[in-house]
Amino acid sequence: MRMEDIFEIKNEEERVSAIYNIFDESTRLSTKATRVEFLTTIRQIEKYLKPGMKILDLGAGTGEYSLYFAKNGFQVTAVELVENHVSQIKEKINEEMSLEVFQGNAMNISIIEDKTYDIVLCFGPLYHLEKIEDRMKCIEEVKRVCKDNGKMFFAFISNDMVITTETMCYNPSFLTEDTYNHHTFKVRDFPFVFHTVDDCRQILRDSDLTINNEVATDGLSELLADKINNMNDESYNKWLNYHYYCCEKPEFLGTSNHLLFITSK
Ligand SMILES: C[S@@+](CC[C@H](N)C(=O)[O-])C[C@H]1O[C@@H](n2cnc3c(N)ncnc32)[C@H](O)[C@@H]1O
Repeated sequence: MRMEDIFEIKNEEERVSAIYNIFDESTRLSTKATRVEFLTTIRQIEKYLKPGMKILDLGAGTGEYSLYFAKNGFQVTAVELVENHVSQIKEKINEEMSLEVFQGNAMNISIIEDKTYDIVLCFGPLYHLEKIEDRMKCIEEVKRVCKDNGKMFFAFISNDMVITTETMCYNPSFLTEDTYNHHTFKVRDFPFVFHTVDDCRQILRDSDLTINNEVATDGLSELLADKINNMNDESYNKWLNYHYYCCEKPEFLGTSNHLLFITSK
């Protein structure tokens, strides 16, 4: 199936599954360039993580974050919409890990009791829930299952950076086509959903969350992927260090493909 045909699919689970039949989630974070997002996000989560904490990973994909934390001794629950992703996570679990996996929709995780988790990760559902009411429902569920003193981490895809990466990396005609509104710069995104930095702040504040930190998780990594992938380990580690220095500066936020918001009640 082609991307252009996917918006026609009304059923959400089928639509999201069709997207990930095109994009292979299991290898997404496997290059030096794409690893920047994972390493930066882990580093942010670990600032708040203490031994014995319970983690919920909503929209867990093929389990990159869930497996990392389960291997490091944390009790993790993964919830994921796409059945094939759920199976891939289950295949990688070993008996030393405390990792339970459910197939489900982040808008309704009633199988989970209120105030169960210290850390809730929501890296994925807000890339695909088209209606604002559905995104708010998902955020409400995150709030409900998070302990009162817990931290909630939300990832978004940056509308404004997509224009740069699409044009420079994938489609030189992007700027001249009907791919975005040429006055507001809102990208025609569906079946993905992109947010400006202000959109992210607005939806989190409308959900009565306090924003504790805002992070440009991958910065220029997608744009500079070839160069980053060709770095030797020494240069790559220096690049990462420089990225960590930049990624919490407000002036770098919009120019990152992925945005991370760390919140509390
Ligand atoms: C780009 S992947 C990210 C996976 C992983 N969280 C990460 O950050 O590497 C987005 C994931 O969110 C899942 N997803 C999308 N909408 C969802 C929903 N409403 N409920 C649960 N999972 C959802 C997709 O199936 C996909 O596996």
